[in-house]
Amino acid sequence: MGNDIKNIDDYKSAYKKSIENPESFWADQAADFQWHTLWRKVLEPDLRQGHNKWFVDGKLNITINCLDRHLEERGHQIAIFWEGNDIRGDHRQLTYAELHQEVCRCANGLKAKGIKKGDRICFYMPMVPELAISILACARIGAVHSVVFAGFSAVSLADRIKDSSCKMVICSDFNDRGLKHIPIKEIVDEAIALDCDSVESVIVYINTGGIVPWTEERDMWWHDFIGEQSITCDAEIMDSEDPLFILYTSGSTGKPKGVVHTCGGYMVYTAYTFKNVFQYEPGDVYWCTADIGWITGHSYIIYGPLLNGAITLMFDGTPTYPDPSRFWKICEKFTVNVFYTAPTAIRALMAAGDTYVEGHDLSTIKVLGSVGEPINEEAWHWYNEKIGKGKAPIVDTWWQTETGGIMISPLPGITDTKPCFASYPLPGIQPVLVDVAGHEIEGNNVEGLLCIKHPWPSIIRTTYGDHARCVKTYFRPFPGMYFTGDQARRDEEGRYRVIGRVDDVINVSGHRIGTAEVENAIDEHANVVESAVVGCPHPIKGQGIFAYVIVRQAVPDEVVFVEEINQKLVEMIGPIAKADRIMIVSGLPKTRSGKIMRRILRKVAESDYANLGDISTLLNPEIVDEIIRKSQETH
Ligand code: PRX
Repeated sequence: MGNDIKNIDDYKSAYKKSIENPESFWADQAADFQWHTLWRKVLEPDLRQGHNKWFVDGKLNITINCLDRHLEERGHQIAIFWEGNDIRGDHRQLTYAELHQEVCRCANGLKAKGIKKGDRICFYMPMVPELAISILACARIGAVHSVVFAGFSAVSLADRIKDSSCKMVICSDFNDRGLKHIPIKEIVDEAIALDCDSVESVIVYINTGGIVPWTEERDMWWHDFIGEQSITCDAEIMDSEDPLFILYTSGSTGKPKGVVHTCGGYMVYTAYTFKNVFQYEPGDVYWCTADIGWITGHSYIIYGPLLNGAITLMFDGTPTYPDPSRFWKICEKFTVNVFYTAPTAIRALMAAGDTYVEGHDLSTIKVLGSVGEPINEEAWHWYNEKIGKGKAPIVDTWWQTETGGIMISPLPGITDTKPCFASYPLPGIQPVLVDVAGHEIEGNNVEGLLCIKHPWPSIIRTTYGDHARCVKTYFRPFPGMYFTGDQARRDEEGRYRVIGRVDDVINVSGHRIGTAEVENAIDEHANVVESAVVGCPHPIKGQGIFAYVIVRQAVPDEVVFVEEINQKLVEMIGPIAKADRIMIVSGLPKTRSGKIMRRILRKVAESDYANLGDISTLLNPEIVDEIIRKSQETH
């Protein structure tokens, strides 16, 4: 049986075993679950073509392990606590038994609508329990979920629906976030009108109430959809390597890619990392503030916690509504023991001032987590002192959509913590640093490109519909290794600190945005000839979006122009892609072969004018002076 890590010796021996004999190590962890048929082979590795297979020929259903397996022991225990946007006592709760019934009802509803194993279903929903219910229902019948963050625009939603030809969309009528009232169903209709011919039905959950556009033969209310359905539903038997879900994420080129995770390996890895990284103990209330539209929500609001029979809290609001004490009020109200959030939220709440924290009883918190981007030292100390009162270790967890689960992280109370360091790899994870030529950089106190040497159970299986892209992005850059796209440091004691992306991906408030996507949207503006987008430091978001734009005709009013560009970004991507700075320039620094020198644009965006490097080989070096001058004038 899988062993929990309770002290440093456990960690050391688990790590050692996981490296010396990974197959036996992961077989032990997988033995904790209910399998319909045991695997024939633990691992068939392939770090060259990316066809890594785990628990080969094993058969299971992840929802049996999330739900049915717990019914006897903890059927009456809370599975999900839910807190709404509205402060006026808007909360709900579901026990494991209730969640099981709701999932079965919904699964039967899906079947009644003709959904079968392997069909893709798109979710565009607020953070309500029905989202968790329907995701699990989807997994129960073997359909593949593709959750799209409900902050994305109709255009982005349509791209994702089309890419995986989803047969159904599950959405709500509206979504309230803070004081914003978002017309979710209207956005879904707009998206479907953009040639989403695969969509046969749309299920609409009444979240706030209100009038929504309706297409009679296609749309159905959630309550009618589940209404008469039975509360039992046999789970579809899935192969370990059958897809469980698709989640779109931005890359350096082209449109977002659909990262595919499969049933067996993802289950084993998210469950193992959840219990060990958060040192979850039965009865603890665990709260991850992420949205289920991102991988953190998939792995550590739904699957990881439920696989462990945990109490997971879902919050459908924002950290600052109605004021910046909201998180701490919720921690107090639900006596939260483990709290997992993103540096951007920590920075925003820190900036709001300590008075919002004071007076709230946070004494139940014993572990704090951080995810999504590097946490800066100031935010780390504030989190440690003001929220953890110096008694709750911070787990700075490094991982990615593609890794499925946490890869590098301290273990609270077991390994030490050091501000800004994700620190040590979890069992099964073999990080390496390489130089651009792919040579491994050995020793400590070094920096390089972060790769992973050996497959782990929840490694990305493919990018939906385009395996070649998956190989090119992750497995070809450094043959025999998985390439993360991140730069990292290893300190004297072998701890890792992930510094940031080395590709053209910007991490805005912990969300990945590809510069190419932003440029494409900006170029849609009639007066834009060309644009180049880079990241710039931002006190709250971590990185902001800095756009250099060449216009066709002189702009009479820059304020209006900036608004128009931002409108385009909201329309094409969503509000998260709004630019923080837009600079109109007469040209972009280019090499003689016509390539934009982004390095220079990045340095200027960071106001680091002294370290531009050699600009003499540029086609148009004079443009650099113009850009610097403009940057200094407007800063
Ligand atoms: O650059 C790293 C950064 O976020 C990227 C992954 O983004 P995404 O796939 O959206 O997943 C975010 C949630 C897992 C990484 O390539 N990143 C994530 N966590 C950390 C981090 N950078 C530094 N420290 C972290 N703890």
